[in-house]
Amino acid sequence: MYRATLSLLLAGAGSALAALQVDLTSSSSVKTAAKDLAFDVMSYYKGNQSGEIIGLIDREPPSGDYYWWNSAVLWSTMIDYWRYTGDDTYNTLAVEGITWQNGGKGNPFMLPNFTATAGNDDYGFWAMAAMQAVELDFPSAPQGQPGWLELAQGVFDFMVKRYSSEKACNGGLRWQVPPTNKGYEVKNTISNAVFLNLGARLARFTGNQTQGDWAEKTWTWLTTIGLIDGKSNVFDLTSTESNCTQINKLQTSYTAGVLLQAAAYMYNQTTDATQKTWQTRLTALADRTLAVFFARDGGVLSEISCEIGDKTTCTDDMRLFKGIALRTLASAAQMAPFLRDTVAPKLKSTAAAAVKACDGGLRGRECAFRWSDGDKGAAKLTGVREEMNALSAVLVGGEWDGGVRVRDGRERRGE
Ligand SMILES: *[C@@H]1O[C@H](CO)[C@@H](O)[C@H](O)[C@H]1NC(C)=O
Ligand SMILES: *[C@@H]1O[C@H](CO)[C@@H](O)[C@H](O)[C@H]1NC(C)=O
Ligand SMILES: *[C@@H]1O[C@H](CO)[C@@H](O)[C@H](O)[C@H]1NC(C)=O
Ligand SMILES: *[C@@H]1O[C@H](CO)[C@@H](O)[C@H](O)[C@H]1NC(C)=O
Ligand SMILES: *[C@@H]1O[C@H](CO)[C@@H](O)[C@H](O)[C@H]1NC(C)=O
Repeated sequence: MYRATLSLLLAGAGSALAALQVDLTSSSSVKTAAKDLAFDVMSYYKGNQSGEIIGLIDREPPSGDYYWWNSAVLWSTMIDYWRYTGDDTYNTLAVEGITWQNGGKGNPFMLPNFTATAGNDDYGFWAMAAMQAVELDFPSAPQGQPGWLELAQGVFDFMVKRYSSEKACNGGLRWQVPPTNKGYEVKNTISNAVFLNLGARLARFTGNQTQGDWAEKTWTWLTTIGLIDGKSNVFDLTSTESNCTQINKLQTSYTAGVLLQAAAYMYNQTTDATQKTWQTRLTALADRTLAVFFARDGGVLSEISCEIGDKTTCTDDMRLFKGIALRTLASAAQMAPFLRDTVAPKLKSTAAAAVKACDGGLRGRECAFRWSDGDKGAAKLTGVREEMNALSAVLVGGEWDGGVRVRDGRERRGE
């Protein structure tokens, strides 16, 4: 009885309950959908409410649901949103948020609040958000605060120091920073991927060869240890306890994406034989990544290690990966245009599937986590992570008039 009444009520509510719709071939339609999704993403943001912490979606566990780096991904998503659409509604919140989480002058992003939980990967995601602000010409940090480039480079330089003092496994960054932290023995791929990514992007922007050398060195280490194997599979982690001989072979879309973006930046800024080398690495990694993660429903991204049949076993962090994978893959195709013909169709098919999953909740357009096999009984996961994933999918899968310009620092250096 109650159900019947409710569905009548819902039917009567009409257009207020419209599922998300988009024509991916029309830039105005894509922009409208992106605007709705961006609104829904930001409706979860608590940082500007009194008593809450500026720059954070919400508090970290155990009191909240979001590890610190989740909020870095929020700002990266919103910077991309602004760059693709031109809508600056959320820019002030993003500038304030990143600046607050940097914590003022001194060691970039190294806040006492998070040193017990933050690893090199966590710092790296904040630094990559800052780097994106540099490249896309995002509004500056407030007067008297370190600029975006200084923040990205500051984090990178700390990683260089940590890597340089590392004896175990002949290289590679550890996951955790203080030796007392749980997980200090772990060398995970994503920590090394963000280091490589920052090195590649900083080198392209600043022209500093040393940063590019670190990217090369890290790639070599990852392949030597076998965290990237001969078929360009990217695996999750290893440990100093086995002298990095035992590899945990979990595969995650965001690690592959961050590495792809890095390789594309190296390809873009190098010449001759070095460029050829990066082109080979990049092509193999792109082909394998598309084959592994975009295999379902004719080219829809899925987080393969935790979307299994009708079971979704993804951790909260894993629920963020797809959006990162999509935005880094799109960026890779900008830096290496030869990839566009293979990458663009997968971004489009994924965007179409992601939009179809946005038909729930009070507004009728809440997005669900699963984009493929969606109707086969999987329980629906929803929330800010799913909204970010869907927003990212629409941004990279839609048509845009004029494309997205990425600065490379040459003007700044007067070349
Ligand atoms: C916080 O930001 C949201 C999203 O932009 C906005 O709707 C809300 O009015 C803001 N609240 C305050 C107190 O500024
Ligand atoms: C650090 O934690 C304190 C206490 O919760 C909070 O007031 C402060 O805003 C936090 N700082 C940052 C940068 O998150
Ligand atoms: C070049 O990059 C390295 C590594 O980030 C840094 O230590 C060095 O200071 C940079 N050189 C210049 C001239 O900025
Ligand atoms: C540990 O691994 C590195 C790199 O693979 C190797 O060079 C080194 O000899 C190994 N050390 C030990 C003690 O096995
Ligand atoms: C480097 O990236 C720019 C910007 O997307 C692009 O125009 C250029 O063609 C790329 N260079 C190469 C060698 O692909």
